[in-house]
Amino acid sequence: MIIKDAMLETVCGITSRLPENIYLEIAFCGKSNVGKSSLINALLNRKSLARTSSSPGKTQTINFYKAVCLIKMSTDTQGNTALRDEKKTSYKDGRITSPETSADLKKRDMSLYFVDLPGYGYADVSVEAKKQWGRMIENYLNLSRNLKCIFLLVDIRHKPSENDKLMYEWILKRGFEPVIIATKLDKIKRSVLERHIRIIKQELNTNSDIIAFSATDKRGRQEIFGIIDRLLYT
Ligand code: GTP
Ligand code: MG
Repeated sequence: MIIKDAMLETVCGITSRLPENIYLEIAFCGKSNVGKSSLINALLNRKSLARTSSSPGKTQTINFYKAVCLIKMSTDTQGNTALRDEKKTSYKDGRITSPETSADLKKRDMSLYFVDLPGYGYADVSVEAKKQWGRMIENYLNLSRNLKCIFLLVDIRHKPSENDKLMYEWILKRGFEPVIIATKLDKIKRSVLERHIRIIKQELNTNSDIIAFSATDKRGRQEIFGIIDRLLYT
């Protein structure tokens, strides 16, 4: 998948109506400052399309970034199309069975939304404002018809917080299988990576794979694209 273009299309505040988008949406949630907006920029190949800050509480609205992607699809002998999996080239009876010629390979533009949500757990805000943000996030996650997947971001350096656990369970209860991303990978030593991932799994009580990601050096970006590619066709 190649990102061809990206733009901020809709900004929703507490009183806004949610947009009736026709394309799929992927939402990014997690506590304030975990790196949601930075992750979106890294995926979209843009430095500061989504505004980031070293102080928590930067994103206070629901921001819909429309991404136009170029995807490669392959066509089988029956004319069915599927996303082309680079790794699936297989050889049978000495012949390549997965389509490799340019004639078999179709390229298509596809649009989808990356939805940047305000972070939770931001201490420096009134109780009432926290409630309103919470309702806004909940409302979106409950009501969006095109929401295909929720990415839950946790900081790789720390144990998931109580709020992270609640969020994870809440997402599961809504029938979504959250993709967990452990952010700020560049901030830990390679030698502790496995231990930190194990702790995150334990605390969230999950066996799901966790993607370790760094917005600084972009490690984990291709794995996330792999997941998004698969989502587009299921
Ligand atoms: P809110 O909008 O407040 O909820 O925060 P957010 O989750 O959108 O976080 P944001 O992307 O604004 O990043 C917060 C801070 O962490 C910024 O100073 C980023 O530069 C920094 N940051 C984010 N991701 C990474 C990363 O992978 N590595 C490092 N070293 N810093 C990161
Ligand atoms: Mg943000």
